Amino acid sequence: MVNVGIIGFGTVGTGTARILLENKDIISQRSGLDINLKKIADLNIKKSRGIKLPKGMLTTDTAGIINDPEIHVVVELIGGIKPAKDFILKAIRNKKHVVTANKALIATEGNEILAEAEKHGVEVGFEASVAGGIPIIKIIKEGLIANRILAVYGIINGTSNYILTKMTDEGIEFSDALKEAQRLGYAEADPTFDIEGIDSAHKLAILASLAYDIPFSFNDVYKEGITRITSQDIGFAGELGYKIKLLAIAKASDGKVELRVHPTMVPKDYFISKVDGVFNAIYVQGDAVGDTLYYGRGAGDMPTGSAVVSDIVDIGKKIVKCQGVKVSRRGILETLKPRNPETFKIKKIEDIEAMYYFRFTAYDKPGILSKISGVLGDHDISIASVIQKGRRVGEAVPLIVLSHTAKEKDVIKAVREIDRLPVVADETLYVRVEGKEE
Ligand code: HSE
Repeated sequence: MVNVGIIGFGTVGTGTARILLENKDIISQRSGLDINLKKIADLNIKKSRGIKLPKGMLTTDTAGIINDPEIHVVVELIGGIKPAKDFILKAIRNKKHVVTANKALIATEGNEILAEAEKHGVEVGFEASVAGGIPIIKIIKEGLIANRILAVYGIINGTSNYILTKMTDEGIEFSDALKEAQRLGYAEADPTFDIEGIDSAHKLAILASLAYDIPFSFNDVYKEGITRITSQDIGFAGELGYKIKLLAIAKASDGKVELRVHPTMVPKDYFISKVDGVFNAIYVQGDAVGDTLYYGRGAGDMPTGSAVVSDIVDIGKKIVKCQGVKVSRRGILETLKPRNPETFKIKKIEDIEAMYYFRFTAYDKPGILSKISGVLGDHDISIASVIQKGRRVGEAVPLIVLSHTAKEKDVIKAVREIDRLPVVADETLYVRVEGKEE
């Protein structure tokens, strides 16, 4: 029997408990394991979660779970750094395996947590920390183990995708779409994490760590959110044949890996452009397998619970088969041959190249376009197309420029120079563009 204790009886805790109780038979038939949910701890044990638990299962005594000699797996589902980190470290030091859905914790403190787990010979499962129900961690760790991963990229924040979809479909502004997301309960407690790209960056740091055998490097992920995107930008992008999506991108080349989260213009006919609402989609490109794509629900009680339970089962199998055997950072038993990972350095955002969409805000006067294009030309940025609508002499109007591939370094310098021109009325927005160069 594998005894499990859950800490945190919120949305994901409830989904996990429901799956463990209601799907107990099928889980046992498939895995040969008797997974026994022994205790669930939460500060609030009065609130109804719409699930019937056996008497005595619910408790406020978290320490009781962490110190229970019969519990093999502690499942942390409270989220945040404090006190989750403390609970997890205590559980590890008590030689308990840990399963968590806590992306912020793994992305920022995961190196310390995994080192501690390795020291104590226990496993930490965090499948549920990225893209909810999509088993993307297992895919990278196991299904694609034979590949050098060339790129991992996609939509891994449902809330910002919902907001951009609403803005695109209904022509509404960002603030109204955010209010709607909050009303529907999609946004994180602090919506900043969703809309400023922080939640996506947490998840990208986790995926990149597994794909490239690098430490969790959240601080090195370039993060830019969707708050400056207007319905006008979405309209211009549409005219140019693109949609705007918040993409998380990890791409390797020449021993370096780019880690970036930012709004991205994606050609309308690409699959990722059609991923709408709260759904997530992730591409993984392997050198042997080529392009692979995974799509599904990135959040919610049951999808995330499904991922939590899959980790519990994996760990349960190892407990039964290999009691006490040490595990490595990838969760692969150390009895397997040690890996000799290539070591990737992280590329700075200044060193990437892309095509760019620029929204300049300039006074509508003769000669302005040539001034702006002159500065772009001076910095080796070649123009692919230009849009300027309407005529409002003397007023500030948006001037849209789409570039060919350029260096981000040059873009930064050019925009700085253009924003100092007296004919420019507001800060320039630029969005990186994916797709084939025309
Ligand atoms: N706030 C997250 C999202 C929830 O919108 O995708 C799942 O991590």
